[in-house]
Amino acid sequence: MTRKINIFDTTLRDGEQSPGASMNTEEKLVIARQLLRLNVDVIEAGFPISSPGDFESVRRIAELAGEDATVAGLTRAIEKDIDVAADALKYAKRPRIHTGIGVSPSHMRDKLRITEDQCIERAVHAVKYAKKYVEDVQFYAEDAGRSDYAFLAKVIQAVIEAGATVVNIPDTTGYSLPEEFGCRIKYLMEHVRGIENATVSVHCHNDLGMATALAMAGVKNGATQVECTINGLGERAGNTAMEEVVMAIRMHEAELDAHTDINTREFIKASRLVSSITGMNVQANKAIVGANAFAHSSGIHQDGVLKKRDTYEIIDPAEVGAGQSQIVLTARSGHAALKHRLEELGYEFEGEQLDSIYEAFLRVADRKKEVYDEDLESLVNERDREESALYTLESVQVSCGFPLKPTATLTLQNPEGELVTVCDFGTGPIDAVYKAVNQIIEVENDLSEFSVQAVTRGIDALGEVTVRVKAEGGEVYTGRGADGDIIVSSTKAYLNALNRLLSEKR
Ligand code: KIV
Ligand code: ZN
Repeated sequence: MTRKINIFDTTLRDGEQSPGASMNTEEKLVIARQLLRLNVDVIEAGFPISSPGDFESVRRIAELAGEDATVAGLTRAIEKDIDVAADALKYAKRPRIHTGIGVSPSHMRDKLRITEDQCIERAVHAVKYAKKYVEDVQFYAEDAGRSDYAFLAKVIQAVIEAGATVVNIPDTTGYSLPEEFGCRIKYLMEHVRGIENATVSVHCHNDLGMATALAMAGVKNGATQVECTINGLGERAGNTAMEEVVMAIRMHEAELDAHTDINTREFIKASRLVSSITGMNVQANKAIVGANAFAHSSGIHQDGVLKKRDTYEIIDPAEVGAGQSQIVLTARSGHAALKHRLEELGYEFEGEQLDSIYEAFLRVADRKKEVYDEDLESLVNERDREESALYTLESVQVSCGFPLKPTATLTLQNPEGELVTVCDFGTGPIDAVYKAVNQIIEVENDLSEFSVQAVTRGIDALGEVTVRVKAEGGEVYTGRGADGDIIVSSTKAYLNALNRLLSEKR
């Protein structure tokens, strides 16, 4: 049997740190359910002291996961952080506190203003303090990628002696080269007394586009836990993409002497879900989950693949859940068929909830002949967005064209339940609608991004609009909306972004 590599997912913590990717608790729970379907070993559910929302998410995900996954809460090496994380993890069946401190010269000197000895003292104290609450304590040596080898080894040895069960070696700034990072892990394996008593973890950032290569170098040299996110979401250029690292391990199991327990057939679904919830689109040429990951366009390649798939394809698309989108439902499909297909996609709805999804499904099915899985996922996400909205769309109408002045008439329901109708002009129909929205929702914001994507193929496809707005304080909020009518999806997307902004402000 090869070595088991634990998959530590941090989509809900490091992933959420991507500007504009913030999620509310309900959205995090939806993603957590998908992480459980993927069978990840650890879910890092948040940074409990950072906000009441993060605290609540960790608490609820800990309850949800039960025995099925370890749930981790992040802390700094500060007693108060650890107290709060322990409280959030109180009901977890498999709780883990993830504490740590910067260990590079730059972090110690410029950020923390501490000496090496003080750094070790704080690290050891944090681990011992966390141990009072939970058995499973993971220590992160922040910016380990730029730290001194011997000093890093000293810190890691001290925290293992203090009781750390997992030691996380992050390349926080994505600075390292894969070979060098591999040597660093090897050095720790050879120089840290007691390292065999802990799990060695790697957490790599993608600033030089090498996060996956760095993580693989770690695995090759002894790491048995990889920290990663769906779609490689994460701070700045992102984190290691789970789908990439897991498939790389699967492709090279024998030479790496490694395997994971991930249910890879859930990857495409996970990717679409995270992209839809966070509004972070996946580039078409992204490995494993991009729209073109299994597309062959040149004649030579098509000829080869038709003769034998593996001439140009190293992975069977079905292994990652790709290419399974079938025409499943039409306007003639009933409640039972919709419920069944939604269950196959991982969504469970009963009673009134199912009725409301069915109504939305019929509206789409009436317009389109064929309703694809992607349409259903989009409908479910749209419903989730509407449920948590403060302002909802009642109606929108535009008149535009040459030589008309684009005009919008809009009715929203406000949080008090009243219907408010306004009219406005704009340089184009969407500008007119957004100006009308601004008349009703008076909140300072700057529209910084607007994009439209077809959910499926064909002229009748649902159009999914993503917008990003910048609030007065510089925070970025993402909004999404899907509909067969692009004006309606644009309106819903803008409302979704403003609703998020308002909820956070409240
Ligand atoms: O990149 C990093 O170092 C981190 C730690 C908090 C683990 O995200
Ligand atoms: Zn990180």
